[in-house]
Amino acid sequence: MNYEKFRTKYRNILVTGGAGFIGGALIERLLKFTTSKIYNLDYMGYASDLSRINLLRESSLRHILLKTDLSNKNSVYDAIKESSPDLILHLAAESHVDRSIDNPDIFINSNIIGTYNLLEAAKDFWRNIPDLKKQNFKFHHVSTDEVFGSLPDNGKFNESTPYDPRSPYSASKAASDHLVKAWNYTYNLPIILTNCSNNYGPYQFPEKLIPLIISKLIARESIPIYGDGNNIRDWLYVEDHVDGILLCCNEGIPGQNYCIGGYGESTNNDIVSTICDIFDQKSNIKKSSRKLISYVKDRPGHDRRYSINSNFISKQLNWHPNYSLEKGLELTVDWYLNNQEWCHKVVKRANYKGERLGTN
Ligand SMILES: NC(=O)c1ccc[n+]([C@@H]2O[C@H](COP(=O)([O-])OP(=O)(O)OC[C@H]3O[C@@H](n4cnc5c(N)ncnc54)[C@H](O)[C@@H]3O)[C@@H](O)[C@H]2O)c1
Repeated sequence: MNYEKFRTKYRNILVTGGAGFIGGALIERLLKFTTSKIYNLDYMGYASDLSRINLLRESSLRHILLKTDLSNKNSVYDAIKESSPDLILHLAAESHVDRSIDNPDIFINSNIIGTYNLLEAAKDFWRNIPDLKKQNFKFHHVSTDEVFGSLPDNGKFNESTPYDPRSPYSASKAASDHLVKAWNYTYNLPIILTNCSNNYGPYQFPEKLIPLIISKLIARESIPIYGDGNNIRDWLYVEDHVDGILLCCNEGIPGQNYCIGGYGESTNNDIVSTICDIFDQKSNIKKSSRKLISYVKDRPGHDRRYSINSNFISKQLNWHPNYSLEKGLELTVDWYLNNQEWCHKVVKRANYKGERLGTN
């Protein structure tokens, strides 16, 4: 990765959602390898945590937390004014499909209204900055492959796949993507949009599939698999995703969308079994943990298959994942085994007890 461009082009970076899972990994990288000042806009919701970057932010003094709710327009304008960004990396969103089924309101507010407010504030700011800063400015919107809907047994999503979102979460992300594209077409705001597949890795709040399974394994509790377990996801290690975002900031073409997948297609059945086996081997458990697996009622509207064709970003920006699914899973299981205190802390703070969500 060429971080030199960050030194010259992006002195002030506004990251939204930087107290979340992917935002934390991204800010860690920016604090370690650039000299940019990082303004972290996050309303510090239930899944937010700054442990990952605590040491770095204390030592570098280049991290400024802006505790701001994107759905409050005036506060968003204040945040843009304070940060005077050369680059906006927009990751803040409510992100758990199950929670969107139970409570769509907050997804509409954060993901749609929040993105709208940020676009408006960014546009008004961008229009009034000096020419050189204007030329370098980028607004990068991080989205998901879930906006494309569900695939049959074959085929892959790519940059031209039509949108067909199915859950309140994916519909809210699709709406935000459309707003972002409209602000590019209509106002020429230099946006880049990435649609990535399911991320995994350290510091992911343990309600998402992979950390939830590991937490259940550690607690020796039953591991729930929705439906028949044959739903397929394309798993992407979070560091590979961060590489993709940073490459887009460096070399991405304004107005372009890029699909980022991990070449890690797996059924839920396979991924859960693999994690059980890695866990048993690392914890010296003799009787297979697979016996903890139990099948539960399917998620309403559960998409069957996601899969991304990453050829475009590979060819255009030379992006390639460094972590195979096997390697990434091993690192992730290791991390959760060694960081149980972190898990206890975040689930306690969120008052989450590993219960089933999204059955409405
Ligand atoms: N995790 C994945 O597998 C995945 C896959 C594809 C795309 N994405 C996208 O990547 C982005 C980051 O995902 P993540 O997994 O890190 O999510 P996360 O839930 O871990 O973090 C999201 C952060 O955004 C903040 N936030 C939410 N609403 C806000 C608001 N109104 N104002 C200010 N802050 C707000 C939360 O407090 C949280 O810290 C999201 O946009 C998500 O849609 C995630």
